[in-house]
Amino acid sequence: MSDDARWVAGLEAWARERLSASVLDYVVQGAREGTSSAEAPGAWREHRLLPHVLRDTTTVDPGVDLLGRRHPHPLVVAPTTLHRAVHPDGELAMARAVASHDGLLVVSSNAGTPFAAIGATGVRWWVQCYLPADRRLAEPLLDRAVDAGAGAVVLTVDTPVVGTKYASPGVPVVWDEVDPALLRVNFDAGYDGAPGSEKALDLGPADLARLTKRTGLPVVVKGVLRPDDARLAVDAGAAAVWVSNHGGRQLDRAVPTARALAPVATAVGERVPVLVDGGVRSGLDVVTALALGASAVALGRLPLYALSGGEDGVTRLLGELRSQTVETMRLAGARTAAETRSLVAPTPLYDGV
Ligand SMILES: Cc1cc2nc3c(=O)[nH]c(=O)nc-3n(C[C@H](O)[C@H](O)[C@H](O)COP(=O)(O)O)c2cc1C
Repeated sequence: MSDDARWVAGLEAWARERLSASVLDYVVQGAREGTSSAEAPGAWREHRLLPHVLRDTTTVDPGVDLLGRRHPHPLVVAPTTLHRAVHPDGELAMARAVASHDGLLVVSSNAGTPFAAIGATGVRWWVQCYLPADRRLAEPLLDRAVDAGAGAVVLTVDTPVVGTKYASPGVPVVWDEVDPALLRVNFDAGYDGAPGSEKALDLGPADLARLTKRTGLPVVVKGVLRPDDARLAVDAGAAAVWVSNHGGRQLDRAVPTARALAPVATAVGERVPVLVDGGVRSGLDVVTALALGASAVALGRLPLYALSGGEDGVTRLLGELRSQTVETMRLAGARTAAETRSLVAPTPLYDGV
């Protein structure tokens, strides 16, 4: 194993040396019994690939097309809270590192850095949002994101309430320790506690049209696990669907995304891009996701662990995952993301090959 591969494989332990116990606990934890968060990485390893040989792989291009733009690789940084508690440079360090790889950053609505400052780094970015019971309360934040150059709105739909998580024994709850000024700086003052600011329990297809109208941006629906819901979202105007169980932090026992992806991609992949996240820890996982129909592959915890080492940590992580992805594609005889589609081993093994 190269030094960087070993470093990525041990990233959680590396971050453990840099983060307070409560911040690390928050990042690692899953909801309730932790079943979905624990099984996510292993679910990618359940799949098997059927590689091509006798193919010229002198040139391998891991680039993907997403919402009308070419991206040089399929890696997306998923929206996560608490960047500034992980590293003082927070979202700015994350943005600079992602920009150095010409990647895509999805910024959480809970971010602790003004959208304008994130946009000023030059990174390509999308804004993530939840919708409150009173939809109008979300509008100032969305307007700020549009003004700061967000390229799409990612509506997270798996969070009607925040799933219960338990701190590890003896570890203080993060919210008792973290300075609230490091969070949610893009909301209007007084948002929290305002009547109607609780998360909407009645999200529906009409919200997609409303978001599109307000922002003029493509709307990506994050948190879909079922083909019927994927069709519903696309019929309602979703520009992309994001297969996610929120890193196992919402409904525990929700299926692993490594299993949910292919049925969703079959249902809507011809119509819109399908992103996926959950337990992706290596280039092998990235290529497996592409093979199962993903248009791009997002990372939640890994970039946060890497951010504990600042911008350089995230730059190193993305560089190593990108090179693992290219190596995996070369070994599998796939020269493009499209060619990875034929790699999933069918059952029985050589049916239709
Ligand atoms: C610490 C943490 C905070 C998160 N915050 C958000 C958030 O604000 N909005 C959101 O849509 N998803 C959030 N997520 C979920 C991620 O976007 C993503 O779906 C998940 O982390 C992917 O799984 P992985 O961590 O195994 O890569 C968060 C995840 C973590 C670990």
